Amino acid sequence: MPASNRLEQIQPYPFAQLERKIQQKRDAGVDVISLGIGDPDEPTPPHIVDAMAAAVRDPGTHQYPSNRGRPQFREAIASFYESRFGVKLDPDVQIVPALGGKEAIYNLNFAFLDPGDVALASDPGYPVYTGGPLLANAKPVLMPLVPDEGFAPDFDAIAPADLERARLMFLNYPNNPTGAVAPDGLFEKAIALAREHGIVVVHDNAYSEITFDGYVAPSFLATEGAMDVGVEVFSLSKTYNMTGWRCAAVVGNPEAMIDYWRLKTNVDSGMFEAVQVAGIEALTGSQDHVQEACATYKRRRDLVIGALHEIGITIDPPKGTIYIWAPVPEGQTSASFCEEVLERSAVVASPGTSYGPNGEGFFRISLTVPDDRLTEAIERMRSSLTA
Ligand SMILES: Cc1ncc(COP(=O)(O)O)c(C=O)c1O
Repeated sequence: MPASNRLEQIQPYPFAQLERKIQQKRDAGVDVISLGIGDPDEPTPPHIVDAMAAAVRDPGTHQYPSNRGRPQFREAIASFYESRFGVKLDPDVQIVPALGGKEAIYNLNFAFLDPGDVALASDPGYPVYTGGPLLANAKPVLMPLVPDEGFAPDFDAIAPADLERARLMFLNYPNNPTGAVAPDGLFEKAIALAREHGIVVVHDNAYSEITFDGYVAPSFLATEGAMDVGVEVFSLSKTYNMTGWRCAAVVGNPEAMIDYWRLKTNVDSGMFEAVQVAGIEALTGSQDHVQEACATYKRRRDLVIGALHEIGITIDPPKGTIYIWAPVPEGQTSASFCEEVLERSAVVASPGTSYGPNGEGFFRISLTVPDDRLTEAIERMRSSLTA
């Protein structure tokens, strides 16, 4: 049965292939440790689970939700944005719930791109920044992130013809996969470019709360002029260990949000109200867990960086996210190195090329496995790579 031409343009989602590969090994009895996927290993904090459990028992949550979301959910997002980022949002206009950041990023393409338009996507970057535009019959144009510039994209390298056709730009700091935090002045430059060329900036803020060493991540929308040109995707997935719950929001420029909401009302029927109640509890309840999670990821980060150093791979500790992005040893490609690590150590690391061609020469390790398994994975890598 032929798939659509639109779908034929894209490969299966990289992590779907990875999951299949891991399963095959596990079926063959191999104890695989996967450091490939960024899915927090700790459970959702109990107060959030309790709020959800009570909400599920309330028949008032069982019917179609409004696509706008509960007023209390939007107010919880607005008050979080104001207290945490100093960003004021009108909950009636500037906030639309999303069934996870991934869904939001995908749908934003359909709200703002026509066939033939260009979307500027960070390379390396979260795969939906390129898959989304392709599925919308638009053209993703890669913006290589420059390691020596703190993994900022080089805007000057974008071809003028692409810039003229650009309607969307995807940015993400703290950054998956590099762990980089927003380089000084980058948001200001992006805003100037967006104004000049009529581009909607989409800042993917999936990791703002997971930072280390005293670094506090800003919202893109706190930068002067950002609200005129952009929206931000804010997800509860990583901060509150809620990846399975599908709870996020798109916030920002009022006109853009009205358009986005128009699209959404035609695409799905909103977020389960009980999940919204849990989201309210996450955002307005105790934040102690977030501090603890950051301490855990920092401990794991330091463990991995120390072990990599011992096998000759030296990197600066990232200030945010749940990832380590490191160069592969001399003479290896991303794919050959990750293949070797999998075969010799039964440890899964992601090849940098899963995040774009500019990820060649790097691999990514996710810190979302318990300390003992992470220690074992690193030990296995160390002994097989130094043997
Ligand atoms: C940069 C980035 N954006 C968005 C997402 C999607 O998160 P979710 O759909 O769970 O909100 C992820 C998940 O790994 C991510 O790394």
